[in-house]
Order: sequence, then structure tokens, then C-alpha cells
Amino acid sequence: MSKKQNFLKGIVKDAVKEVSSKIEMPSLSEAYVVQARKHSQHTDSLSQKTISIHNELLDGYVKSLNEVSIKLDSVDRDSSNPNSSEFRQLKLDEAHLINAAFLHGLFFENIGDPESRISTEDLSHIRLSRDWGSFDAWQRDFIACSMAARNGWAVTCYNTFLDRYINVVVDLHSLNVPFGCIPVVVMDCWEHSYFTDYGKDRKTYVYALMKELKWEKINKRFEDAEKISRVLK
Ligand SMILES: [Fe+2]
Repeated sequence: MSKKQNFLKGIVKDAVKEVSSKIEMPSLSEAYVVQARKHSQHTDSLSQKTISIHNELLDGYVKSLNEVSIKLDSVDRDSSNPNSSEFRQLKLDEAHLINAAFLHGLFFENIGDPESRISTEDLSHIRLSRDWGSFDAWQRDFIACSMAARNGWAVTCYNTFLDRYINVVVDLHSLNVPFGCIPVVVMDCWEHSYFTDYGKDRKTYVYALMKELKWEKINKRFEDAEKISRVLK
């Protein structure tokens, strides 16, 4: 490179530096605010004490999620790294708290109807029978997932990639969740959901709640999932 070219390169570099120093980085505005929905939480299978504990936990999850959302707006992104950084921790907390807040909502919405019935004509029955071979096979698989989760969740969901329903074992609130999942049946398997009323007998708790799954509500979720599946085809 000639002396002249080097000289020009220097001028361009200095000019870019000067302009860059004057450009203010646009501030991010991704903060969102969520509110805990009020659910009737009428159930014969859980004590008022367990329901109260749940409500306190849910309020805490929602409060923390809103705080994380605000912090994410201004956190330093330049120091992000996989070992230890505030940005990384906030993103992990965000995933944990989004699922904690919304899975609880879905859970409360799909329990509490001891008179609930499912018919072989219902979309939920048809799809669960199709994808597991029979409704009983789905139930066995869902119970196995409920027993396999650590402090976590069992979730039946429509998977947009597989174009079918699958059961998922979730540890904590956000571990092992495949992409493309739309939840239709949700079971809380955290100890706080059963220990007060059932001790360590999680299976009896799961059986009790499966008997009162609100199939009318769940059927609506299947219909909504099918609408999404039609759009994606
Ligand atoms: Fe819970």
C-alpha cells in the first residue's frame, strides 16, 4: 500500500471514530409487564393452605418477572459471557419466570371440576387416542411424566414441528422444554403443590387431579392448537 493510500486510510479511520463517538446507542425498549390472572381454584383435591401457598408463589413469580423485564432493558450487553454475567443470569431468570407464571395459570385453569367428563367424540379424546394409540395409553404416559419430573411439570402439548401431541417432562420451570410446544394439559409436580396434603405420595395427588381435569377447557385448547397447526401448514 502506498504512503498516499495509508494516509487516506488514516483519515477515513479517524472520521469513522469521530462519528461513532457522537452516535448514541439506541436504548432498548423490550420491558413488558404481566399480571397474575385470578383463577377460581376451586378443587376438592387440595387444601386451602396449599392453594394459599400457590397464590403467594404465583404473585412472587409475576413480581420477579416484571423486575427482570425492566432490568433487561438497561443491562450491560457488552460484558455478556457464558461463565458469569448479569445479562446471562437475567435471560435464565426470564425463561424460568415466564414459564412459572404461565404454567401456573394453565394448571389452575385445567383442574377443579370433579364432575368433568370426556367423551370419545371430543377432539381431545380423538387426538390423544390417535397419538398414543389409546386414551388409556396417554394417561399412563402422562402419569409417568408426572412421576418423572423433579420439582417440575408434566405437560401434554401440540408440537408444531412434529405436527402431533407429545408429553413433556419439565424440570424446574424451564428445563427440557422442546421448541414448538403449545400446552394443552398441565400438571404441577413441584413438591409445594402436594406435600402439605399428600406428603411424599405424589402419585395419589396426580390421580386425584387427573380425575378432576376440566375437559371442557382442555378441549378448547386442543381446538386452538389445531387452528395454529392449520395456519402453519
Ligand atoms: Fe406450583
